[in-house]
Amino acid sequence: MASVFHYFISCSLLAITSSYAAQTSFRPKALILPVTKDASTLQYIARINQQTPLVPLTLTVDLGGQFMWEDCVTNYVSTTYRPARCGSAQCSLAKLTACSTECPGKPASNCNNNTGALMLDNTVTHQATVGDVGSDIITIQSTNGKNPGRVVSIPRFLFVCGALLDGLASGVMGMAGLGRTKISLPYQFSSVFSFPKIFAICLSASTNSPGVVFFGPGAYKFLLNADASTNLQYTPLIKNPVSTASAFIQGDTSTEYFVGVKSIQVNEKDVPVNKTLLKINNTGFGGTKISTVNPYTVLHSSIYKAVIKAFGYSLSAVPRVSSVAPFGLCFNSTFIGSTWLGAGVPSINLVLQNKDVVWRIFGANSMVQVSEDALCLGVVDGGVDVMTSIVLGGYQIDNNLLQFDLTRSRLGFSSLLFGRQTTCGNFNFTLNA
Ligand SMILES: *[C@@H]1O[C@H](CO)[C@@H](O)[C@H](O)[C@H]1NC(C)=O
Ligand SMILES: *[C@@H]1O[C@H](CO)[C@@H](O)[C@H](O)[C@H]1NC(C)=O
Ligand SMILES: *[C@@H]1O[C@H](CO)[C@@H](O)[C@H](O)[C@H]1NC(C)=O
Ligand SMILES: *[C@@H]1O[C@H](CO)[C@@H](O)[C@H](O)[C@H]1NC(C)=O
Ligand SMILES: *[C@@H]1O[C@H](CO)[C@@H](O)[C@H](O)[C@H]1NC(C)=O
Repeated sequence: MASVFHYFISCSLLAITSSYAAQTSFRPKALILPVTKDASTLQYIARINQQTPLVPLTLTVDLGGQFMWEDCVTNYVSTTYRPARCGSAQCSLAKLTACSTECPGKPASNCNNNTGALMLDNTVTHQATVGDVGSDIITIQSTNGKNPGRVVSIPRFLFVCGALLDGLASGVMGMAGLGRTKISLPYQFSSVFSFPKIFAICLSASTNSPGVVFFGPGAYKFLLNADASTNLQYTPLIKNPVSTASAFIQGDTSTEYFVGVKSIQVNEKDVPVNKTLLKINNTGFGGTKISTVNPYTVLHSSIYKAVIKAFGYSLSAVPRVSSVAPFGLCFNSTFIGSTWLGAGVPSINLVLQNKDVVWRIFGANSMVQVSEDALCLGVVDGGVDVMTSIVLGGYQIDNNLLQFDLTRSRLGFSSLLFGRQTTCGNFNFTLNA
């Protein structure tokens, strides 16, 4: 980074004002962001428009990410970019890491005097750096829950500048964080347009038909007329008291979304796992989180081994084939039938707060076709040193609607939408006339 940092924390906790409220009379009830799975990285990619004049900005969606960050060093020329001055209301909203007091160079989006700074995280490569906080105009589509509606603009959308693009899909210029901070996308959208702090993700497994992120409460309608905001099961969202970011300041809590898995079942039978690993301990280790940057579920080694063993046992009649990395359990798929809900294998159940709240993972979310006749269980061994014991990854949440209610701190989940005869790739993106 070009900035010279003198670390003094000067950002007083001023009352939060709505200084960045939208200058628009049309007030949307909800917004949508189409999200496409990238075929080579399996990242989920979204595009918004930003800057004056508007240019498209392509971002990797990071469910637990702290805010939007982007590379503003290369080709960032905008007449509406504003650095967030130290001591400003924006700066207190952002809970700054530091204040960059002086940049000796020419003023630019990555070179400002007296500007707030935050640690940003590339959660794919686990690299972190410090970047300037600023704001600029962005535009996004509103929705009636069924089709896209009129485009709305947010004149002073807060984000952080930093060039950390290693490991991100081709063409991507940063990450769109949907995590638990006051400046993540869902929080900023909800405060600007005064709708409830609720958002939902519905990721498509297909790289051809986009899935969708909804900001605001339902309806979330998919063709043919399935409202995925109904008939959800709910489980509390759990806060991890210790940050899970690559770099952080002592005392920071995690901005990622954790749920309380109490036990795991395969074929409706409990898998013997070390229950200590399912809880979050005082130093932030353990527990279960949901991630859009891990393409497949990653398990602590001891949980992985237990799940593989139980799953293999439940399909002991099916011939195995040699495993294909990164997976460790593969079958000859000619011996596995297909069902409504994907490959005909036993479900893997995550039992949540009680035995009646169960997240069932069916074949479409568990089995990965790695070649013409090989199907592998789509989970990965994370080793024994993982911080989080269960990271539910993209493949396991595709075609499931997950609704995050940040006010009630709960997750609503639909289970596989095939059961309702639709998919996350079935949102009708035709503009409502
Ligand atoms: C910051 O302030 C110094 C001293 O006043 C000045 O030389 C420099 O050009 C300023 N930098 C920017 C980016 O405005
Ligand atoms: C369960 O996991 C905890 C945390 O890693 C460990 O300290 C403990 O020894 C494990 N218990 C058993 C029975 O393996
Ligand atoms: C939490 O778990 C980790 C990993 O097992 C361990 O290293 C750490 O000491 C534990 N912390 C506490 C406070 O028990
Ligand atoms: C899978 O089973 C079929 C039918 O028995 C056989 O022809 C094929 O070679 C097997 N594939 C592998 C990879 O073992
Ligand atoms: C998609 O939405 C458009 C605009 O409302 C509508 O005209 C069209 O019939 C819808 N498509 C389907 C398949 O329902």
